[in-house]
Amino acid sequence: MASTFAGLDELVIAVSKGRILREALPLLAAAGIEPCEDPDVSRKLILETSKPNIKLVIIRAADVPTFVEYGAADVGIAGKDVLLEYEGNGYYEPLDLKIAACRLMLAGRGPVDNSSRRLRVATKYAATTRRYFAEKGVQIEIVKLYGSMELAPLVGLADYIVDLVDTGNTLKANGLIAMEHVRDVTSRLIVNKASMKIKHAQITGLIGSLAAVVA
Ligand code: ATP
Ligand code: PRP
Repeated sequence: MASTFAGLDELVIAVSKGRILREALPLLAAAGIEPCEDPDVSRKLILETSKPNIKLVIIRAADVPTFVEYGAADVGIAGKDVLLEYEGNGYYEPLDLKIAACRLMLAGRGPVDNSSRRLRVATKYAATTRRYFAEKGVQIEIVKLYGSMELAPLVGLADYIVDLVDTGNTLKANGLIAMEHVRDVTSRLIVNKASMKIKHAQITGLIGSLAAVVA
């Protein structure tokens, strides 16, 4: 399904708010796309840009693949961590933007003896965690959380966590150690499948400009 919200000559780009938006704005600016209002100040959810036919929508990270799959946005910028959890497949992923780089890590207070019971792992990344342990042939119990994962081992909610790590400061501040590297994470450009056909020239132009900036 292509966007019915945007005209045929328009492009809507959905960007995860927060850290990814902060790192994506300089890339977009280098590709000639600058929001007309400061996203940190404006309360608008749809922002006009310096290109009259390109709009930005600023949304929660986990909603970006949904907006793109359903064609509410033609293009999106989201972390690979979020894309790995998303169950649909209605988009292409043509470009690694190499921003918001971090790692998904297994962490805890130290090794736990699991010879007599299943390990309990707290995470926001249930699908990725399940796949990771399944590949190792280890059965685990997942405790789904939506934030502050680092608390779980401290209060006895779980043996381990799977969470994003960048500097390692959050783990260190909470007395946790990184134990296994699950996968590297960066932000990706994703594209609605129908938009790629219908707006081919504009979208390949955008991918080309961003690829040149990233390179
Ligand atoms: P929401 O506020 O919508 O619940 P969130 O708290 O996960 O989402 P952010 O912390 O801004 O939002 O993270 C958004 C994305 O930024 C993540 O999906 C990931 O790809 C990346 N990210 C998160 N933490 C880090 C980090 N410490 N270093 C680098 N990139 C990160
Ligand atoms: C992310 C992540 C970790 C932290 C890791 O949280 O969930 O808690 O960054 O980064 P570090 O290794 O550099 O300390 P974020 O700062 O986005 O807070 P939030 O999860 O509460 O949004």
